Amino acid sequence: MARVFNFSAGPSMLPESVLNRAAAEILDYKGSGQSVMEMSHRSKVYDAIIVEAQKLFREVLGIPDNYKVLFLQGGASTQFAAIPLNFMNGSKKADYVLTGQFSTKAYKEACKVTDGDVLAVASSKDKTFTYIPKLTKADFRADADYAYICFNNTIYGTKWNYIPDTGDVPLFADVSSCFLSEPMDVTKFGLIYGGAQKNIAPAGLTVVIVREDLLGNAPENIPTMLDYKVMADNDSMYNTPPCWSIYMCKLVLEWIESIGGLEAMKLHNEKKAAILYDYLDSSKMFNNPVVKEDRSIMNVTFVTESDELNAKFVADAAAAGFVNLKGHRSVGGMRASIYNAMPIEGVEKLVEFMAAFEKNN
Ligand SMILES: Cc1ncc(COP(=O)(O)O)c(C=O)c1O
Repeated sequence: MARVFNFSAGPSMLPESVLNRAAAEILDYKGSGQSVMEMSHRSKVYDAIIVEAQKLFREVLGIPDNYKVLFLQGGASTQFAAIPLNFMNGSKKADYVLTGQFSTKAYKEACKVTDGDVLAVASSKDKTFTYIPKLTKADFRADADYAYICFNNTIYGTKWNYIPDTGDVPLFADVSSCFLSEPMDVTKFGLIYGGAQKNIAPAGLTVVIVREDLLGNAPENIPTMLDYKVMADNDSMYNTPPCWSIYMCKLVLEWIESIGGLEAMKLHNEKKAAILYDYLDSSKMFNNPVVKEDRSIMNVTFVTESDELNAKFVADAAAAGFVNLKGHRSVGGMRASIYNAMPIEGVEKLVEFMAAFEKNN
């Protein structure tokens, strides 16, 4: 059976070796006579899985001891509410930078769930989110409880290629679509989080990495399931965790280690992105609308001059085995998501296909 090259923005491709390993272990995990999908999350055999996944996450990303790693459910979108509920507890001010749909949703959710002072300190909406604002410390309020950004903007194909200086205000970042794609200095952040379904595991797992000293100040009436302190105190086992996704996360982390860790991952991802952007920059048919220095290496957006030609390209590409290249429904055009698991060959073949399409249309 031929596998397609899947450019989906999420859920997305997983490494084939990881899928094969999961398949081999699916009926009988390590002689337990059970699938990981079937076993109690309180069992000894499962405990070893979640503990190892935690350990590997810390190793691979270089997470310092004063940060907690939480394995949660609810998707990134649930954290849009959990973050203000947990952390707008001092001045009750929070600063948001709007660089696309997900940061705007997070901002709106904060406005909805708290009565605090939520401020959009900057936005790139004036140019359809095709760039990342250049901000300095002066752009953030010195007494805010936190500042919030979306580090990689999945829909628009932009990425913060610098970490804004927010002074003493803890910086929080949604890293859903660039998690584990390259090394990251966790100490520059108070909290980073993301849904797993792009680079880490199948859907169902949300990973939150949070500086320990920020925990424990949520209001009494916070829903228990949204209280990060409860989750941290219970080692992500307050209730049933997303067991299977955590197991898959462990396998993906082992795969990342086996290919040389995040430094190697970064080179692999930069190489793929360069192949695609170089072609786009030379093409007369396809155009990438993003300011060059703000380009994402995970989500590459492009358009032709007409909706009809875009639609033809997406259909012809799918017929040739390059699937899920349609842009997000809110922006149209095309988007190739080239997360960790996309092999270089997938991008090379896509570019060959695009060049042939350009010649023939
Ligand atoms: C950057 C970013 N944030 C948040 C979300 C929402 O994630 P979820 O579907 O896990 O709630 C997405 C989903 O694509 C995303 O790309």
